[in-house]
Amino acid sequence: MKRFRTVLTTLLLLTAGVTSFAAETVNEPGGAPRGAWLKDSRFAMFVHWGLYSELGGKWNDKTYYGIAEWIMNRARIPAAEYAQVAGRFNPTGFNADEWVQLAKDAGMRHIMITSKHHDGFAMFKSAASPFNIVVASPFKRDPMKELSEACRKGGIRLGFYYSQTQDWHERDAVGNTWDWPSEGRDFQKYLRTKAVPQIEELLRGYGPIAGVWFDTPGPISPEDSKKLVDLVHQLQPQCLVNSRIGNNLGDYDTLGDQEIPRLPRPGLWETPDTHNDTWAYAWYDRNWKSPREIAERLVRVVSRGGTYMLNVGPDGKGRIPEQSARILRTVGQWVHEHEEAIHGTDATPLGPLAWGECTARGNTLFLHVFQWPADGRVLLPGLKTKVLRAQLKQGTEIRQCEVRELPSSDSAGPCLEIALPASQPATLIPVISLELSGPAEASREQFVLNGCRQTLEAGVAKLNACELESIDWMEKFGDWKHAQCAGRWHGSESAATWAFHTVEPGSFYLDVEYSCPATDDYSEWRVRCGETDLTFPLIDSGERPMREGFGHTLMRFRTYRVGVVDFPKAGLHELRFGPTGKAGGGVRVSSLVLTPVD
Ligand code: GLC
Repeated sequence: MKRFRTVLTTLLLLTAGVTSFAAETVNEPGGAPRGAWLKDSRFAMFVHWGLYSELGGKWNDKTYYGIAEWIMNRARIPAAEYAQVAGRFNPTGFNADEWVQLAKDAGMRHIMITSKHHDGFAMFKSAASPFNIVVASPFKRDPMKELSEACRKGGIRLGFYYSQTQDWHERDAVGNTWDWPSEGRDFQKYLRTKAVPQIEELLRGYGPIAGVWFDTPGPISPEDSKKLVDLVHQLQPQCLVNSRIGNNLGDYDTLGDQEIPRLPRPGLWETPDTHNDTWAYAWYDRNWKSPREIAERLVRVVSRGGTYMLNVGPDGKGRIPEQSARILRTVGQWVHEHEEAIHGTDATPLGPLAWGECTARGNTLFLHVFQWPADGRVLLPGLKTKVLRAQLKQGTEIRQCEVRELPSSDSAGPCLEIALPASQPATLIPVISLELSGPAEASREQFVLNGCRQTLEAGVAKLNACELESIDWMEKFGDWKHAQCAGRWHGSESAATWAFHTVEPGSFYLDVEYSCPATDDYSEWRVRCGETDLTFPLIDSGERPMREGFGHTLMRFRTYRVGVVDFPKAGLHELRFGPTGKAGGGVRVSSLVLTPVD
C-alpha cells in the first residue's frame, strides 16, 4: 500500500500540469499587454542545468535511464550525500556569451533556465540557503548573473525556472520521501524561509526577467500559488508566470512536456520539448531530434498559435553537447531564412493540410511544405480570399509561382493550384508565401489531396457513442508522450466519422493507427466509405496497463492496413469507422491514414 502511495505521489509530481490560461492584462511600457512579446518569440531555448548535470544520469556506477534531473529521486540519494556532489561541481567550461550566441544562431529569442530544480540546489548566489553554487561549490561564480548580463548584451530575454513545491533538499518541502516521512512537514516554513526569499532574490538581483517558470505544482494550495504570482507581479509587473504555478493561475499556458496540440489553440501558450529524451544532461542519451524534426515540430506548434521551447542539457562542465549545438545551428539557418514565417505569426486560418502547415501574418500566409509534391504542384483548398502573389524563397532568390484555380467540385469552394519547381529547394522545409488581397477567409474543412499522405486525426472526427480520450504516458521515466484517440466504444452504434472533400478522383491505402489491450484482441471492426465496406480484426498491440515501477500505462500503437479506398469522383465523402459488436471497447484509434496508391 505504502509503495502504491509512493508511486501515485511520484506520478502526481511528475505529471506536467496543464491548466487553462487566466488572462489578466497589465500593460507593458509600449502599451502592449503583459506577455505580448511571447508571440514575437515563437522559438526559445530551455536549459536544464544543475548539480544533477555533474552526475549525468549515473549514481554509484548505475545508470538511471530517463530524465536525468530526477536522479536524486530515482536513486533515493540521501540529501546529505547528494549535497556532497556540490563539492566537486566545477563547471569551468561554462561561458554565458557562448550560450547566448548559440540561442541566437538557432534563431531563438528567449532563454528559460533552471535556477533551482527539484533537487533544491540554487544555481545562483543566495542568502536564503547555503545550498547554492556560489557558497557550496568550488566554482564560486554566479552563472545566472553571467547569463543575465550576456542576454542583455545579446538582446535575448531571460527567464528563470524555479521549482516551487518540490525541493528534495528540504524536509518541509514536498517530494523527498526517502529521507523524511511525509507527516509533520511545515510547507509554510519552507515557503517563508526558502522559496519566497529566493524568488525575491531572482527578481531583485538580475534585471528585468521575462518570466518565472514554475513546475509540478502538486499539492500547493490556491492561496500559496496566488501568493507567488502576486510576488512576481509586484516586484516585476511585466514578468510572466506560467500555468504550472498551479490552481489555474498564471499568465500563459505551459502544455504537457512534449505536447503538441492537434488543432489551433487560443491564448498565450508554449510547448516545452526535449532535444533528446531527457531535460538534463545524461551521459548515454544521444537520441537527438534531427534539424528537420525540430523544424517540423516548431512549425506545428507555431501554426497552432504557440511558442516552441526546445531544451538543451549542458554537462557538469557547463558545456552544451556539441552534437546538440550543431543541430541547433542548422535549424537556426532555416529559421533565420524564414524569420517572418515563424516569429510574430498567428495560427493557421485553414483546416488540416495534407502536405504541411500554415502560419499567418496580417494578409500573408506562409505555407510550410513538409511533403514536396512529386507532380510539381501544391493544392490549396478552402481559401476564399484572392491571392495576389505566391513566392518561393530559395536562398537569397525569390521565385514567383503561378497560381490557378481548379474548377470547384462542390460547395467546398475553390481549390488553388500553385505550380512549383519539380525538385525541392535545398532547405529544411520550403516555405511559400501567399500575399492575399485582404484578411484570410477560409474553410476549416478537411480535404484529401492526391499526391500526398494524409492523416484523419481522431481529434477532428465526429464521434457517436464513443469518446475522445487524451492519453499521456511515459516511454522511459519522465519521457512523456501524448495521443488523442477515439475510444470507449459501446457496440455497433459507436462510430468515428470523418467528412472530407476530394478535388480529383483518386485511390488511397487506408491504415488504422491504434492501440488494443489484450482483452480486445481480435475484436471486429468495420470501415464504410462510398463503395467501400470492409470488416477486419484488430489485434493486441502489446500495451501494458500498469507498468512495473511507474504505475502507469505503457501505450503501444500499431498500424493495420485495412485496404484500398477509391474516390471515383471529386466531392464530399464520409468515412465511418467503428466496431461491429460489443467487443473492442478498450481499443483506441489515434488516426486513419490515407496514402496514395500511385
Ligand atoms: C517535468 C519534470 C521536470 C522538467 C519539466 C520540464 O515537470 O518534473 O524534471 O523540468 O517537466 O518541462
